[in-house]
Amino acid sequence: MALIGCGGRGTGAVLQALSTKQNVKLVAMADVFKDRLDSCYKEITSDEFASLKNKIGVKDETRFVGFDAYQKAIPLADVVILTTPPGFRPMHFEAAVNAGKHIFMEKPVATDPAGIQRVLAAAEKAKAKKLNVVVGLQRHYQNSYRELMKRIQDGMVGDIVSASAWWNNDGVWMKQRTPSMTEMEYQLRNWYYFNWICGDHITEQHIHNIDVINWVKNAYPVKARGTGGREVRKGKDYGEIFDHHIVEFEYADGTILNSQCRHIKGTWAKVDEMVIGTKGKVMFDAAKMVDSKGNALYAYDKKNENNPYQTEHDELFEAIAKGKYQFADAENGAKSTMTSILGRLATYSGQVIEWDKAINSGIDIAPKNFAWDADMPLKPDANGLYPVAIPGKTKYFS
Ligand SMILES: NC(=O)c1ccc[n+]([C@@H]2O[C@H](COP(=O)([O-])OP(=O)(O)OC[C@H]3O[C@@H](n4cnc5c(N)ncnc54)[C@H](O)[C@@H]3O)[C@@H](O)[C@H]2O)c1
Repeated sequence: MALIGCGGRGTGAVLQALSTKQNVKLVAMADVFKDRLDSCYKEITSDEFASLKNKIGVKDETRFVGFDAYQKAIPLADVVILTTPPGFRPMHFEAAVNAGKHIFMEKPVATDPAGIQRVLAAAEKAKAKKLNVVVGLQRHYQNSYRELMKRIQDGMVGDIVSASAWWNNDGVWMKQRTPSMTEMEYQLRNWYYFNWICGDHITEQHIHNIDVINWVKNAYPVKARGTGGREVRKGKDYGEIFDHHIVEFEYADGTILNSQCRHIKGTWAKVDEMVIGTKGKVMFDAAKMVDSKGNALYAYDKKNENNPYQTEHDELFEAIAKGKYQFADAENGAKSTMTSILGRLATYSGQVIEWDKAINSGIDIAPKNFAWDADMPLKPDANGLYPVAIPGKTKYFS
């Protein structure tokens, strides 16, 4: 196995992969920053994980640093773990598929429509080559969600006519600029706040909740309209992303998904999903289903809940070890990522955004050149502030 992106999630994913029952060995690591790679290596080889030590076969010469590190690590492995921030996922996924590797990749899988198309094309190739691909939308690997979903599909709450999804909480870390950083280094260190690499928090986190509703509907929205902005988290340390988005996603059958995501301290917090059907409703976090009068239909016994982060690796590596082709998560990963991007285009512009137009728009926000001194498409002004979308003024389509 090779790890590409040795940060928080990469470290966790490697430990989970090494903890499966299969004969897995980590043979290569790649990161754009040496300090991030070193701290990951230190952690996975620490006494805390002594039982995994003999599964770590990474040598000095198989620890790769830089923008091309992934190209050196991928050929050394049978399975590739892609856990960089999402802006690099299309490039890394494509390379891993072209090299014929099985893949675990984190969500989101892109940050713009051009990246989505690249992932969809590589997903087709992965299918043709029978490469197992698991995407870290881990609710698909969580027992309670699987049990609820079975019952929804069996019709327990009737036809789904409306849904809600929330990722409302305090927000995440921020990394300050230091004088020696080039603009590329700064944007990579403080990646959460730049769309080309993060996608905004509607994509980076809220995708989980939006994806659950797509799963229930077995479909993707045809359009989105919404509102959002930067009310509290603004200033030069916070790049260009919004701190709140409220979006109505509309599916072809008229079902509306009301989606909210907010990163504002001291506000009402909730990370959850709910669907309403003609015969009842489902609350996912509580893992309960009730009829239209509120009488219990089903409650999942949370004592049986699993750790879905572990299960996604258990199932992936078991399939690989048995030579089975079982997982093709990339297409849904791309389309759920696209749903969240649709929402961002709607809140940034203040317009109704249609799926077909957006996914085929070719919108491409990535830098054209990956180098420390690259000329970045997004630059701060003389006060260190970045341009931020303004609903009503920001336009994607004439
Ligand atoms: N499924 C989940 O619940 C979950 C939870 C946390 C994070 N994630 C996802 O995992 C991904 C990583 O998040 P994180 O929290 O680990 O971030 P992080 O910043 O801790 O780690 C990202 C790592 O990637 C490295 N990197 C950046 N660009 C690179 C490149 N071009 N080549 C190689 N390495 C590169 C960084 O230096 C860093 O070490 C994100 O997509 C995030 O959404 C998913």
